[in-house]
Amino acid sequence: MATISYCAFTFILFLLAHFGESAIINVAAKANVDVGPLLMKAWKEACAATTASTIVIPKGTFPMTQVSLEGPCKAPVELKIMAILKAPPDPKNMDGKKEWLIVGRVDHFTLSGGGTLDGQGNVQVYPAKEKGFKSDKLPNNLSFNFLTNSVIRDITTLNSKLFHVNVLGGKNLTFDHFTVKAPGNSPNTDGIHIARIIGITVKDSVIGTGDDCISLGDGLENLKITGVTCGPGHGISVGSLGRTPGERPVKGIFVSNTKFIGTDNGVRIKTWPNSHPGVVTDIHFENIDMQNVKNPIVIDQEYCPHNECSKQKPSLVKLSKISYKKISGTSATPVAVQLACSSGVPCEEVEIGDINLTIKGGAAKSICKNVKPKLTGKVVPPLACGK
Ligand SMILES: *[C@@H]1O[C@H](CO)[C@@H](O)[C@H](O)[C@H]1NC(C)=O
Ligand SMILES: *[C@@H]1O[C@H](CO)[C@@H](O)[C@H](O)[C@H]1NC(C)=O
Ligand SMILES: *[C@@H]1O[C@H](CO)[C@@H](O)[C@H](O)[C@H]1NC(C)=O
Repeated sequence: MATISYCAFTFILFLLAHFGESAIINVAAKANVDVGPLLMKAWKEACAATTASTIVIPKGTFPMTQVSLEGPCKAPVELKIMAILKAPPDPKNMDGKKEWLIVGRVDHFTLSGGGTLDGQGNVQVYPAKEKGFKSDKLPNNLSFNFLTNSVIRDITTLNSKLFHVNVLGGKNLTFDHFTVKAPGNSPNTDGIHIARIIGITVKDSVIGTGDDCISLGDGLENLKITGVTCGPGHGISVGSLGRTPGERPVKGIFVSNTKFIGTDNGVRIKTWPNSHPGVVTDIHFENIDMQNVKNPIVIDQEYCPHNECSKQKPSLVKLSKISYKKISGTSATPVAVQLACSSGVPCEEVEIGDINLTIKGGAAKSICKNVKPKLTGKVVPPLACGK
């Protein structure tokens, strides 16, 4: 008996060593010492390892300059940030052409640890922008480029100088318990901008910032947003689309169990007039709670901020198979539902039902143009164009 169980025991040890265990690389971070070079060195080692490894940045507050972590790696890598990492407050001390933290071309990457990436935009950049300072070369994005089968979990991004997160390309990426925090008046600080990726989930996350909560660019397929709370900010936005030639279709977007608190928009689809052709299809919004949202439901195919375009010609981005179900709460302005589709390519197969959006002390209104939505339940405020 004893021999058999000893054998079983050594066999389990063997399994752990060869299949389960992930080698741990600790980053010896020190107060006031730039974590960047230490992290890049640890990454080199982890990425070259033939079995899974975990890089740990321990608890504490450390400065970090720009870091680029590139794959492909030989085995899965997890980066566990338990620390608060702080970007240089002055953008002059950063290369404006590169982003703050880039992770690219890795399969089975995990970012976790409960830590915070503090862009420190509040220190110099937001006050300077308030006084008219303009720059299109601000570095502080987290960029996840061409990641596959990867997870970003339990991480906070704070006060980015520009967009908080930019996701470009890849396949099968999940954001889970992700937090974005910046003041409602911080300029161009979009929460997560996503484009050209297939299969992405954003779940159980809280995004409060000065621009879009989540904005969706072209070439996006199969995106799920669920259990997200947005506010302050500009809401969840598909587009703007149609401005550049060759944009790829956006298809298969499901937004559910999501809450908007005091945002400028709730769920919005926007395309430029006088546009290049494009396709937006199979987009669904369900079980959404709006609290004091200025424009809860918006299709705007004449999106033209600062009069940068001509509205003489219609948008050529075709919208179809769009549904709105179980959306309720309060609108902060009279127009609670705006479905303004293109006169050139009217919206098709739009469904709407179980909508109850009210305003304080009056009746909310709805607007529709170039669309004949199918009513699948009661809609308050009523839609003149419904069938
Ligand atoms: C940050 O991301 C946005 C959105 O994709 C992009 O327009 C901007 O150029 C990026 N910033 C830098 C410094 O790369
Ligand atoms: C997506 O990635 C996760 C995390 O690596 C993995 O567990 C899952 O199996 C992947 N899904 C598919 C369909 O490949
Ligand atoms: C719509 O919402 C208002 C305010 O929340 C509520 O009083 C009303 O009963 C709701 N109507 C329906 C049909 O659910």
